[in-house]
Amino acid sequence: MPSNRRAAGIDIGGSGIKGGVVDLDAGELVGERERLDTPQPAEPPDVAEAVGEVARSLDLSGPWGVAFPGPIVDGVAYTGVNLGSGWPGTSLRDVLGLQLPGPATYLNDADAAGLAEARYGAGRGRRGLVAVVTFGTGIGSALVHDGRLVPNSELGHIEIDGHDAETRAADSARKREDLDWETWAGRASQYLCALERLIWPELFVLGGGVSKKAEHWVPLLKTRTPIELAQLRNNAGIVGAALAGYEAQHGGS
Ligand code: BGC
Repeated sequence: MPSNRRAAGIDIGGSGIKGGVVDLDAGELVGERERLDTPQPAEPPDVAEAVGEVARSLDLSGPWGVAFPGPIVDGVAYTGVNLGSGWPGTSLRDVLGLQLPGPATYLNDADAAGLAEARYGAGRGRRGLVAVVTFGTGIGSALVHDGRLVPNSELGHIEIDGHDAETRAADSARKREDLDWETWAGRASQYLCALERLIWPELFVLGGGVSKKAEHWVPLLKTRTPIELAQLRNNAGIVGAALAGYEAQHGGS
């Protein structure tokens, strides 16, 4: 019998805008994932158009959840450091909402991934503080305590040795500076150790594209906190966004 708990999720990233219809009982995509390259420069009108195109290709009227790579308070984006310069202060509700054929909820991309991992993945059933950290173009963070998200933690931007941490320890820094795995793992390790001294999580869940190559760097990390790899991989943002969209309409489970 098909599930009747379905919602659509869209994940806006620096390189791609991805979307899918999610079966919320299974925490999995139903049908194909849609993807478009993020328009460059990634300014609000062009991104909105691309979001609309992805949305129209999904066979669902809603509810919708949209994950965005910056802090979101009440539907408004406050940064978008890895997108174009026009995002701070932009109401996603106004700009993206027009493109979506149903009610939508907007949240930070790492928070979406964190929700998905807490509900369906590596953090499932965990009590205490789970810190989900995504290493990609930026560093995203989600704090989940006893299964509940504390939104907009933005811990990718803590200062380490006088630098914004993500400028040196994101996966984009590894690529940009052509770092070998050992050097980059040293930076990721320093970052995670700084984080654990501040928030004392019981578990790190590590995600982002580079978690697919975990064997090269995860064994080199020197954290006190146990580590698990994110399980929803590329779809975590879509699944978490859809979950948030659904629960905003129908309440939590
Ligand atoms: C942003 C975060 C985002 C992360 C991953 C950071 O630069 O400030 O909001 O979650 O990148 O996209």
